[in-house]
Parts: sequence; structure tokens; C-alpha cells
Amino acid sequence: MSEYILEMTGIEKTFPGVKALDNVDFKLKPGSIHGVMGENGAGKSTLVKCLVGLYQRNGGTIIYDGEEVNFKVVREALAAGISMVHQELSPVPERSVMDNVWLGRVPMKGIIVDKKKMERDTQELFDKIGIDNIRPTDKMKNLSVAKMQMVEIAKAVSWNSKVVIMDEPTSALTNREVEHLFKILRDLRDQGVGIIYISHKMDEIYEICDELSVYRDGTYVGSYSTKEGAPDYIDMNGLIEAMVGRKVTAMFPKVDCEIGETILKVENLSSGKLFRNVSFELRRGEILGFAGLVGAGRTEVCETLFGLHPITSGHIYKDGVEIKIKSPEDAIEHKLGLITEDRRGKGIFGLLSVSRNVVVSNLKKYGFPLRHAKMRKDSQEYVDKLSVKTPSLEQKLMNLSGGNQQKVLVARWLLTNPDILIVDEPTRGIDVGAKSEIHALLTQLAGEGKGIIMVSSELPEVMGMSDRIVVMHEGDLTGIIDRADFNVPGGDAKLLEYASSSKKSEGVA
Ligand SMILES: Nc1ncnc2c1ncn2[C@@H]1O[C@H](COP(=O)(O)OP(=O)(O)OP(=O)(O)O)[C@@H](O)[C@H]1O
Ligand SMILES: [Mg+2]
Repeated sequence: MSEYILEMTGIEKTFPGVKALDNVDFKLKPGSIHGVMGENGAGKSTLVKCLVGLYQRNGGTIIYDGEEVNFKVVREALAAGISMVHQELSPVPERSVMDNVWLGRVPMKGIIVDKKKMERDTQELFDKIGIDNIRPTDKMKNLSVAKMQMVEIAKAVSWNSKVVIMDEPTSALTNREVEHLFKILRDLRDQGVGIIYISHKMDEIYEICDELSVYRDGTYVGSYSTKEGAPDYIDMNGLIEAMVGRKVTAMFPKVDCEIGETILKVENLSSGKLFRNVSFELRRGEILGFAGLVGAGRTEVCETLFGLHPITSGHIYKDGVEIKIKSPEDAIEHKLGLITEDRRGKGIFGLLSVSRNVVVSNLKKYGFPLRHAKMRKDSQEYVDKLSVKTPSLEQKLMNLSGGNQQKVLVARWLLTNPDILIVDEPTRGIDVGAKSEIHALLTQLAGEGKGIIMVSSELPEVMGMSDRIVVMHEGDLTGIIDRADFNVPGGDAKLLEYASSSKKSEGVA
């Protein structure tokens, strides 16, 4: 018997114009958590998709549980005991949570679905892995991204798998939820499950993984231990170098920009039950961070400013003049841009080309009929600027890697040349190299006198980049902290206190 539950050797995968995997190896031990790392477009998702039969590989062998396997469809892999939680979630939004969990294998009572059993089984599953804030009968579409992710994980567990694949599972979760997920993963590992863990978050990889493998541009770089003292141990700097192929300089290059006039003033803004009485000012040259736990209402505030939710009370002023925002068109008219948190749901037109996706919020600029040459020139410029990895501008967006899709969204909003750019989790799922490029870009935009609102659940990011931080908790603004007060040792304590308490701090209306 081999010591591995899974051995992938010499895997090849070619897409038109792209060699996504070139002679790639991957080996997984049972009862271990194995990190898969590499830059955006390195081939991580492709590798696991070839494993589960979502893609058909062009070469190489896969030995699973002692036998050679070739899964033609995902169901075969699931039945054999390999399940996957995808990078881009794909729930059936109109159906209930339990329908989503048991999709395609619902319990029957004669010819009718046994709803009672389904609810019981789902609850049992949730109890087993400690999910207590989701009801089996909840509608999927009413759940936050984080909760949907939990449902997906429960679903993976429900198949009693020997191998569970997680493709960037924590990108939408905050610290508390990540801890919860890690507990579930450790339990699974201790029961002998092999877990493939794809992530861009270094500290997480070291916390949760036993081993890791690194890929670069579709090739296999090597496998290492994350345990200090082990002969094949790799430290964080070594890991970054293995991934990027060069040394990467400091993260969060905070440059103090000249702070100018107030560009946006938000006064007692409320939107139904989403959030209440939120007031703050944004000045030119400023990066205003928004921190809080998932469910704090940060995304909702951003979306409301962008006309996606109705304003039930309050006022918005731009450059001192009150403006009315009832739709995204109004927001764009007033030169606001929004890079959304939920790529799949709200931002991405997967079937359209990269080029179309870059220009889509800016079509007016290209006249009627559309001037295609100009459109291509502009999109090429931003594709280059952000180093989007794509074989051509005509590539369908859904064929790009997750991180590269995010870069295309960033390009879209840069092209509209907004005065105020609202970015919601701008670097979620983006690799270290591209992350520092996006941070540098935000800093540059602030330097040009724009106002930036940045929602981020990553504390180092929000603390590294912001001039001031607005903290929210369950729909209330609980505090606004100056850089001088959080950019000190232990400065995150106050932030966490505001984020977890509904008590309003002094001086906040
Ligand atoms: N269906 C597809 N059609 C064409 N090209 C594809 C397809 N899927 C992936 N690719 C290309 O294969 C390469 C590897 O993509 P993959 O999604 O595996 O990267 P990744 O390592 O998961 O990146 P990320 O960290 O951004 O998620 C990329 O260049 C991508 O554009
Ligand atoms: Mg991926």
C-alpha cells in the first residue's frame, strides 16, 4: 500500500492558447491538510478540476486509493469519495438550504420527497460540524456569502469523503468564521480525511496545513513542510520566492497623500433594516477603511451609496452639494465607482470577453455605433497595467482564473475614472504580487485627489492602507479611528472592540 491516498503524476492540461498544466505532480497523504499555493493563473484550480472530472486532462495519471482513476463527471468523483468546495460558489438561490445540500439525492418516501427527513438529516449534519446559525429551511439566496460557504462545506462533509478539496474557502470569511472552519477541517483530518487546501493567505497556510505544494505558471515547483525543524521546511520568504520566482517587496506601501476638501459627506444614512444612521465624511486623497465582522453592514452601506438599495432616510453630499442616488446609473453619473465583493453575483459577465467586461460600465464613452478599436486599446492598457493573465482580450471572462477576474473588475472601474472609488474586499483571492500592485494603485489614485472607501476583513490590509477606519457592528457605526490611534502596537484592540460591540463610541452620532 502506498502512503498516499492520492497521487497525481505528469498532469497536462491545455486550453486554446494556454498551457494551464505542464507535467504537474501532486501527492496527498490521508489524515493531512495539504496547501496548494501559487500566483493567480498558476493552475491550482485547474489541477483540482482535472482531479474531480470537471475538466478532462490531456495527459498524466491519477491514482486514488490504490487504483488508477479517470473521472468523467463530478458525480463519479463524489461517489468515489472526493468532494470539492468551489472558489466561486454556485448555489441554487431560489431553493432552500437543505435542497442545496441534498441536490440530486433527496430522500424519497414512495414518490414524494421526504421533507421531514431531509430537514432532520440537514440539522444533524449541521450539529455534527457545529453550524448553529443557519436553518435547513432558509432560502439560499437570503444567506450571506459566508453562510453559503458553510452550507457548501456541510455538503462536502455529507458525502463522507476521503478527500475534500477547498478552493480558497476563507476568502469570504472573517476571523471567527475562519476559526470555525479550521476546527471542522482539523476534525476531518483527525478522522483520516485528506484535505487539499488552496489559498493565497500565507499565515493561514502555516496555521492549518501540514504540508504544501507550490505551482508557478502551470509547472510544479516543489513540495515542502510547514513545520519548523522538518528537513523540507520552507519559511514564508522562501515560499513567496518559490511562488513568484522573485523577491517581493513590502506589503501595504502606505504613502501619506495630501488630504484635501471633503468630497463625500454621508449624514444619518439608513436603508431599511440593513443599517441605521450612518454618518461619515470622506476627503480627497484619503483612503477610508471600513472594518467589522461579516454582517456588520459595510457592504450594504457601499451598495446603498451605489444605488443598489433604497435610502430610507438620510442625505448624501458630494463636494458640498446634496445628490440623490436611486440607481447605479445615478451613482456613475456622480462619478462613483464600486468594485463589488461578490464577483459572481454582481460584477462578472462570464460569457462576455475580457475586453467587454473592462468597458461595460463605460459604454457611453465609445459612442454609437461602438468604436471597437478604441475599446480594445483602452482595455489593453488596463489589462497591461494590472498584469491580467489572459491569452487575448477576446477570451471569455469565465475562463480566467479567479484572481484575474477580480483584476478585470478593478480595470473596469479605473476606466470610468471615478472621483470616489468604493472597493469591497479588493484583494480577496488575489495573490501576493498582484495584491501589492492593487494597493499601490489605490494609493496612487488617492494621490491624484480621489477619495477611496475600502471595505476589508483582513485586518493587516485595512490597518496598513487606511488613513481612518470606520467600524461597524450589526448595522450601526460604532466608531471612527484615526491612523495615529490604530497605527501603534496593540492598535487593533480598539478596532476589535468596536467591531464586536454595539455600544457606540463617544463622539459618534
Ligand atoms: N475553462 C478555461 N478555458 C480557458 N482557459 C482557462 C480555463 N480555465 C482556466 N484557464 C486558464 O488556465 C490558467 C490557470 O488557471 P487556474 O484557474 O487554474 O489558476 P489558479 O491558480 O486557480 O488562479 P487563482 O489564484 O487566480 O484562482 C489561467 O491562465 C486561466 O486563464
Ligand atoms: Mg483558482
